Amino acid sequence: MKHYMPTRILTGIGILQKHKDVFNKLGKRAYVITSRSSGRLSGALDDLLDIFKEYGIGYAVFDQISQNPTVVSCIEAGRNANDFEADFIVGVGGGSVLDASKTAAVVAANPELTEELIYRQTWDSKPIPLVLIGTTAGTGSEVTYVSVMTNKDGIKKSIHNDDLYARYAFGDPDYTVSMPEHVRISTAIDALAHLLESYFNNNANDISRAYSIQGVRLLYPKLKLLADRQELTDEDREAIYDASILGGLAINTTGTVFCHTLGYYFTERYHLLHGFACALFTNELLDYEYENHPEYAREFFEAVQIDKEEMKERIRSLLPETKIHLSEEEIKAMLPRYTDNGSVKNTYGTMTVDDIERILKRL
Ligand SMILES: [Fe+2]
Repeated sequence: MKHYMPTRILTGIGILQKHKDVFNKLGKRAYVITSRSSGRLSGALDDLLDIFKEYGIGYAVFDQISQNPTVVSCIEAGRNANDFEADFIVGVGGGSVLDASKTAAVVAANPELTEELIYRQTWDSKPIPLVLIGTTAGTGSEVTYVSVMTNKDGIKKSIHNDDLYARYAFGDPDYTVSMPEHVRISTAIDALAHLLESYFNNNANDISRAYSIQGVRLLYPKLKLLADRQELTDEDREAIYDASILGGLAINTTGTVFCHTLGYYFTERYHLLHGFACALFTNELLDYEYENHPEYAREFFEAVQIDKEEMKERIRSLLPETKIHLSEEEIKAMLPRYTDNGSVKNTYGTMTVDDIERILKRL
């Protein structure tokens, strides 16, 4: 087996206050990275700044990270943190902010970095310490060594590097209360996608499969509440958050499969939210695995005690209606990206670009 997790994970209601001394130990100057609204609406930013004031920690806030962050914005945030002479960075937000903060922590220590060098992962100095505080439940980015950014050509492209691990990942399910409903559903279904894509993955091992199975057990009943638009309790939110962390731990070991890499295209081109874009293909993954590796698939559904068709129906019930129509030409133009693609190759079994073509046509 292969497994590595250097991030200290702290979750639960009121967790930031309980462990506020963490910030005091990291230094006297903090650079906070967030988006225009999520940090403030969730209450996380105010809680954090109160702690800084209590300890006399100087801070500056960069709130210009948008969804699917560009490399340029990550570089800007990192150089600003360097100008500010920050001792550490705190990212407060959803997956986009957390991913951007990871790259910014590298740039803060290496302000000369350009987009090209970031993608080549060539830097001299270790990043400054990073703390991540999640305000959505689904991305799992708090605990991964991946930063997904949008490059100068508008393509979502990730870097994977041990330097991107946060020192601390804080998760307070209370911070997820303020999420708009479509974001709550999209992020929850992203977590499900991570758990499944990690299980049906050539890199899966007994540790990652344990994460996947426990995550699906926690999350699946809550998806029904989301589909029925029911009020969530603290326990529900905690279960969804924990499942999201388990999904992050799972994909951090295995990577994702074809659903995520195809999903990127639908976010870039049709602006679908990340979770919805990836979940368009989750049922295709389940069918593909059931057809090609029935024993492995059955083992999974027995472990989580869920009927496959029922799961497919639940996923469908959470997806928004879309009016996307792919022409033959568009599908043809898409295929080169998936010919020698790591996520396609990760798919449990031997998936090829011909399978991708079939899946896109069927969709
Ligand atoms: Fe995802």
